[in-house]
Amino acid sequence: MNIEETLVLVKPDGVARGLTGEILRRVEAKGYSLIDLRLVQPDRELLAAHYEEHQGKPFYEPLVEFMQSGPVVAIRLAGNRVIEGFRSLAGTTDPTTAAPGTIRGDLGRDWGLAVQQNLVHGSDSPESAARELGLWFG
Ligand code: PPS
Repeated sequence: MNIEETLVLVKPDGVARGLTGEILRRVEAKGYSLIDLRLVQPDRELLAAHYEEHQGKPFYEPLVEFMQSGPVVAIRLAGNRVIEGFRSLAGTTDPTTAAPGTIRGDLGRDWGLAVQQNLVHGSDSPESAARELGLWFG
């Protein structure tokens, strides 16, 4: 067994579109456990820390702006190999090409805006998960 915890975020587009329940349904149907959950209005300081590895990339500023545009649901999720498993459930970054059956593939699309509104975030490694859970849950 490799029980892990990961940080999942339902991004502002997911919350605004009323998809939080559907995203939680998929996560729970997969068998992962909700350990903690909170509705957060993230400020720039939290987002700068969260996305520090992407600072300087062309999508950084629009991404940080977008993530401040409304409330985000932060979820502490646990399960065997949940880090890899949630990213697989989420699908690839671009919702236009994300595989059908994934959250982004089924529920997301490109709205022609400056930023990808791709519904969810999931930590990409055990190190990122520990760091991000510390930022969002203290
Ligand atoms: S990278 O450069 O390969 O590390 O990028 P990637 O892992 O695909 O994505 C890193 C995070 O940036 C988001 N991203 C974007 N957001 C908005 N617009 C564009 N064009 C864009 N490209 C990447 C991507 O969703 C990742 O954020 P999270 O919150 O982890 O989903």
